[in-house]
Amino acid sequence: MIYVTKPFLPPIAEYQKYVDGIFRRQWLTNNGPLVNEFELKLKEYLGLPHLLYLNNGTTALQIAIKAFGLSGEIITTPFSYVATTSSIVWEGCEPVFVDIDEGSLNIDPKKIETAISERTTAILATHVYGNPCDIESIQNIASKYNLKVIYDAAHCFGTKYKGKSVYAYGDISTASFHATKIFHTIEGGAVMTSDPNLLRKMAYLRNFGHEGTEAFADLGINGKNSEMHAAMGLCNLKYIDRILAQRKNQHQIYDQWLRKSALKFQSIAPNSDYNYSYYPIIFPTEELLLKAVKSLNTQLIYPRRYFFPALHKGLPYLKEVPACKVTESVSTRVLCLPLYDDLSIEEQEMVVRIILRTLNFN
Ligand SMILES: Cc1ncc(COP(=O)(O)O)c(C=O)c1O
Repeated sequence: MIYVTKPFLPPIAEYQKYVDGIFRRQWLTNNGPLVNEFELKLKEYLGLPHLLYLNNGTTALQIAIKAFGLSGEIITTPFSYVATTSSIVWEGCEPVFVDIDEGSLNIDPKKIETAISERTTAILATHVYGNPCDIESIQNIASKYNLKVIYDAAHCFGTKYKGKSVYAYGDISTASFHATKIFHTIEGGAVMTSDPNLLRKMAYLRNFGHEGTEAFADLGINGKNSEMHAAMGLCNLKYIDRILAQRKNQHQIYDQWLRKSALKFQSIAPNSDYNYSYYPIIFPTEELLLKAVKSLNTQLIYPRRYFFPALHKGLPYLKEVPACKVTESVSTRVLCLPLYDDLSIEEQEMVVRIILRTLNFN
């Protein structure tokens, strides 16, 4: 069986060592020593001034929106995971979808300005598959209209833009460390900002608004993560450079066989160091995609239609929204191929052979 992804696991003895310490201390959660150590090591690794480790990437988005007290309309992309949109709605705001650019697959900055109204308060954009958005154009528009910028950087561990972690851009960036991500802590996420006041605010929001045990500074939620999760993060951080290098090799192997075919590929932002976290391919038609998926499934290979359906079409809690033609076309034709640390060349070759056969003999 070959799935689209498989979580990386460190040697069990290394995790066990952390677990032994947790059992000795009997300190399981609530800002424990491993959570603190993990936050410090993450900041150091990513070269960031501030971050908060959270229980997942969805809470991270909700805390980011809440931290600015946003209301009204938030401009966002329809080509993302459902959490990007659901967080906006959960926080009582209205998503306004702006279509994506056909090359980058990120929100198209050229289409943002016409979507801005008097009720617009922010732009929430996803760096799709770890590929940085057009950060300068988005910031220029945000500055012109006095909007906050939040980046859903769930896919971005290891990606750099202009030599800095891509998490450093926007007013707040959010990360997911879910088990399916290139770097994970089983469940987990983070918010990143360069503003210490915003960080303090989000620290309250993460912990029920507590200021000490008997006073409350703000409205909060439980966004904390546990010692067991931080321990997985500390173990995995030791391997991340090797994982990133392996991912790049695997990309090159797929590239070598697939780039000459009729498939289309995402264009990666100039001035970026991409993390190669997914391998999306875009078929000429949905019919061909469905044929390929069927053939792959018969060989027990399970790629993923990610993201499908497009968010402006697929969510029952949204009212009819205007068409986003590029997103509609791409989301029906895009497929993420299996990609994980111990995927072998032979397995990649098998995936490729089935896809090329579908493309060449349809
Ligand atoms: C783009 C994007 N945003 C947000 C999330 C939510 O992250 P989490 O699963 O950690 O809540 C995901 C998770 O898959 C994602 O892909």
